[in-house]
Amino acid sequence: MPGLTIGDTVPNLEVETTHGTFKLHDYFNNGWTIIFSHPSDFTPVCTTELGKMAAYLPEFEKRGVKLLGFSCDDVQSHKEWIKDVEAYTPGCKVAYPIVADPKRGIIKQLNMVDPNEKDSSGNELPSRALHIVGSDNKIKLSILYPATTGRNMDEVMRAVDSLQKTSQYKVATPANWKQGEPVVISPSVPNEEAKKMFPQGFETKNLPSGKDYLRFTNV
Ligand code: BEZ
Repeated sequence: MPGLTIGDTVPNLEVETTHGTFKLHDYFNNGWTIIFSHPSDFTPVCTTELGKMAAYLPEFEKRGVKLLGFSCDDVQSHKEWIKDVEAYTPGCKVAYPIVADPKRGIIKQLNMVDPNEKDSSGNELPSRALHIVGSDNKIKLSILYPATTGRNMDEVMRAVDSLQKTSQYKVATPANWKQGEPVVISPSVPNEEAKKMFPQGFETKNLPSGKDYLRFTNV
């Protein structure tokens, strides 16, 4: 069976977390949520990542985005580990829940298993999987890193900004786009419609093909 991917609904699993037990859709509460997994508690890269996510939490909250971490150790271990995370990244508060999944049932259903990483007992470990979930409980974007590569939270924030912008307007965001920069008009919008849809105007780039598909506007 292919794993959970863009467009799929996140299954409404019951999860045990550092903030108690709840069902995923109740936590999402019809809002944006980032669910992200870590190979293991008390490991170096994960400790830096958890702290960075906590440090960025106010910015995520400004965008109406909740965070939910996953690691396969138990709740007690997560709670002990959080003390290290907060000490390593001073000023950060790990105010978001972390799911415990010692049996690996949850990470398997959420397509967060790293086939190349095993713990000392040979059990599977999570990859650095991250799914951005929309208000309809569906996955809008996924990124997948191996255990040895820590994620860039600026890129996660940029991806949220793009998803929120493109869910609001018929636009797409170009390479290396950042919040506040021009966006491109979706190819599905003909020029006549674009004139009405974007009364602020748009700029069509001249290309060798003579085709007029690269149209920039500000929204
Ligand atoms: C880490 O978080 O540093 C890590 C975890 C598992 C394997 C490799 C690195």
